[in-house]
Amino acid sequence: KKNISVGLLGLGTVGSGVFQIIERHQEELVHQLGCGVNIKSILVRNLEKTRDVQVDSTYLTTNPEDVLNHPEIDVIIEVMGGIDETREYILKALEARKHVVTANKDLMALHGPELQNAANQYGCDLFYEASVAGGIPIVRGIEDGLVSDRIDKVMGIVNGTTNYILTKMDDEGVSYEDALKEAQELGFAEADPTADVGGLDAARKMAILARLAFSTSVDLGDVEVNGIADLALKDLQFGKQLGLTMKLIGFTHFQDNQVEVSVQPTFLSRNHPLAAVKNENNAVYVNGEAVGETMFYGPGAGGLPTATAVMSDVVVAIKNMLLDISGRSYLPPRFEKVLKTPDQ
Ligand code: NAP
Ligand code: HSE
Repeated sequence: KKNISVGLLGLGTVGSGVFQIIERHQEELVHQLGCGVNIKSILVRNLEKTRDVQVDSTYLTTNPEDVLNHPEIDVIIEVMGGIDETREYILKALEARKHVVTANKDLMALHGPELQNAANQYGCDLFYEASVAGGIPIVRGIEDGLVSDRIDKVMGIVNGTTNYILTKMDDEGVSYEDALKEAQELGFAEADPTADVGGLDAARKMAILARLAFSTSVDLGDVEVNGIADLALKDLQFGKQLGLTMKLIGFTHFQDNQVEVSVQPTFLSRNHPLAAVKNENNAVYVNGEAVGETMFYGPGAGGLPTATAVMSDVVVAIKNMLLDISGRSYLPPRFEKVLKTPDQ
């Protein structure tokens, strides 16, 4: 079989990870797919930039059409971030009958249902495993692994940057500003880190998880959000004296067809399993009626872990394409949304 060609929108932290995996793990890809995967075109903002990966400059472009309408490209991998322009690109890609894989929770939290409807309409796949909890397969874990169960609660740490900051402050007494700077340098933070520290990034992920877990529509505005931007070292030290550790906890609960979603800095006992989740790692509990309590743990941010999640979607999209069963994954919500505010 001929190789399958993919196009990249973005070659930053995650895009470079995807580039590396495609370069280094061809053997695994060929084993899974019976053919190789190659990158045909990559959209970037700045052609002159020094890159973390060695890429032939003829593959780079600043013209989105070179990727979106490339006749040989079957799968578009969106790892550029942003909302309005990116939404437009993804709609164009779907219209051009390309399958789309995205790591963009900002976009999926705001426009997920619209984009999924468009994917359905054009018979294409739209996958977003990397949009929640980096390298942890939580989207597929809920969508496939727990598909027969009745989930009532999802809770955990879904932002790597804030967990990294809280760990550094708590364990090493590093200041909030220095810890944030480190998280940015390590590629964990968003382009605008106020979304991380203000809790919005976690809120976006919790909206996506709540939709998936409870098969209901949840908007970003439905999430009660508080971040960690106002926390000081002395707050954490105070907790420490009481045997507590601070974590930014995402919580969503479904009962009597009512859904509650929140993101709050929360003091946990130092013996709580989530207190042991350090640095950029994330952990998510999912509670199902039949399965009981499950916990998903792993790196929640960073180039290669996130790219692993992206590539899991790419492989499924290509398998579906080869089997001619693309565009069948989206199911509309089963339940009307009825919200319950966290203090009800
Ligand atoms: P990043 O390092 O800032 O990379 C963004 C890339 O997209 C860069 O290569 C940039 O080009 C390109 N780009 C951005 N806007 C563009 C535009 N308007 N036109 C053309 N190219 C554009 O970002 P990232 O950390 O890889 O994150 C990418 C996406 O993955 C975001 O949606 C983010 O939320 C998500 N994500 C990130 C992580 C993580 O750990 N970093 C984890 C999970 C999900 P230049 O290189 O030329 O500037
Ligand atoms: N900025 C995000 C985080 C990247 O720190 O969790 C992963 O989604």
